[in-house]
Amino acid sequence: VPVDPFDLVIFGGTGDLALRKLLPGLLHRYADGQIPEDSSIIGVARDKQSDEDYRRKVGETLLRGIGDNEALKEKLPAFLQKLGYHALDATRDDGWEQFAEQLKAQGDRIRVFYLSTSPNLFVAICDKLRAHGLNGGQARVVIEKPIGRDSASAAVINDAVGSAFAESQIFRIDHYLGKETVQNLLALRFANILFEPLWNANHIDHVQITVAETVGLEKRATYYDTSGALRDMVQNHLLQLLCMVAMEPPAALQADAVRDEKLKVLRSLRPITADDAAQLTVRGQYRAGASAGCAVPGYLDELGRPDSRTETFVALKAEVDNWRWAGVPFYLRTGKRLPERVSEIVIAFKQIPHSIFEHSAGPVMGNKLVLRLQPDEGVKLWLMIKDPGPGGLRLQHVPLDMSFAEAFGVHQPEAYERLLMDVVRGNPTLFMRRDEVEAAWKWIDPILAAWENLRETPKPYTAGSWGPSAAVALVERDGRTWHEDTV
Ligand code: BG6
Repeated sequence: VPVDPFDLVIFGGTGDLALRKLLPGLLHRYADGQIPEDSSIIGVARDKQSDEDYRRKVGETLLRGIGDNEALKEKLPAFLQKLGYHALDATRDDGWEQFAEQLKAQGDRIRVFYLSTSPNLFVAICDKLRAHGLNGGQARVVIEKPIGRDSASAAVINDAVGSAFAESQIFRIDHYLGKETVQNLLALRFANILFEPLWNANHIDHVQITVAETVGLEKRATYYDTSGALRDMVQNHLLQLLCMVAMEPPAALQADAVRDEKLKVLRSLRPITADDAAQLTVRGQYRAGASAGCAVPGYLDELGRPDSRTETFVALKAEVDNWRWAGVPFYLRTGKRLPERVSEIVIAFKQIPHSIFEHSAGPVMGNKLVLRLQPDEGVKLWLMIKDPGPGGLRLQHVPLDMSFAEAFGVHQPEAYERLLMDVVRGNPTLFMRRDEVEAAWKWIDPILAAWENLRETPKPYTAGSWGPSAAVALVERDGRTWHEDTV
């Protein structure tokens, strides 16, 4: 869909997110012809450098990521010409007037301000944008997580951003919502008649959401150590995935209709109290081990501090207290330095009520719908079938497998590509509304408080394992197991 010419300003334009995700994403969109020629992308950071220097540095980074994609290589020089750079400090006045004039000279057109900076600069940047009259017209602001570290601090950030921009101009990004499979969940649930009648406590035994990473601290020690896995991953990505699974059908694919339904789910989450936190949650921290065949240090060594109690792994059991989900546990787990990079949602259906098969046919396993977000995006529906061949009736559990790359053979756009273009188009459906972020924190707050009270050190796990054994016990206690993709 064509978009109008726009100016996109990236605060933190020399940072990791800009170089690893935002600018490569924009290059892809440009190569696909989605960025009009007279648009501009302006990197902003504190250091002084010329447009040329910035283009050269971005160009080198992008080139490394392009590999042997000739089409992208060909488009790179023209893309770099769209880039500009501006040195600004959010805490000082120098340069802002000139920056504002430069943008205003483009006339009234779409202006996106992407705050890819530390959250403690959000307020100062928004104040400056307002003071220089850059918050009106078709201006939009994108804010990245972490939006606070609990519900009170999230409200402070939301108030501050909200004093410069209207809610309709604020795009709170959760890049998991831009992942192909997450959007496919909407298609699967609401463009098929097949699943919806079964999508409830009568037919679903439980749900598992796993976001496993192989990486460790990745040069983000300062941020990560003050955050931990619950704030970094569960409060946002995992809860958003839970909402997409659990929400009622929205009346339309319209931003507020979808966000209203997600909000209801967040508000229906049963609070985890101080009394049951020890039973329902598991915190872990990795020790030295191996990742992708290489020896890796433990978290404390990587951090260079022996006394951190920050968790790098969380598993927990959540319950959604409403008619649809009563009694269906949602098991969530996420961690760093796990054996593989895999994110998936498993919908485990109930057992058949009665088996007509002989014992010798083998066990009848429950059906499972597995939505894989990464690395190989796709959907698998696990069914029982007869083992082919003449050897009598033996049953097998096999997946109907739809791998998107194989089925469609196309480049799957990165989450950020899709979301950046949604901001430019002004479509907030896949972004979090203020009340959602705050409702998610309200559920997380008591867990944080309970952990603080318990004052336990996180349970150790070896890098390259699936987390502390308590995470296995969390599920096995209920007579279930974590899903393993055996085919
Ligand atoms: C970010 C977290 O939001 O998501 C990181 O801050 C994490 O700690 C990342 O590594 C995972 O994103 P993806 O898209 O690589 O799964």
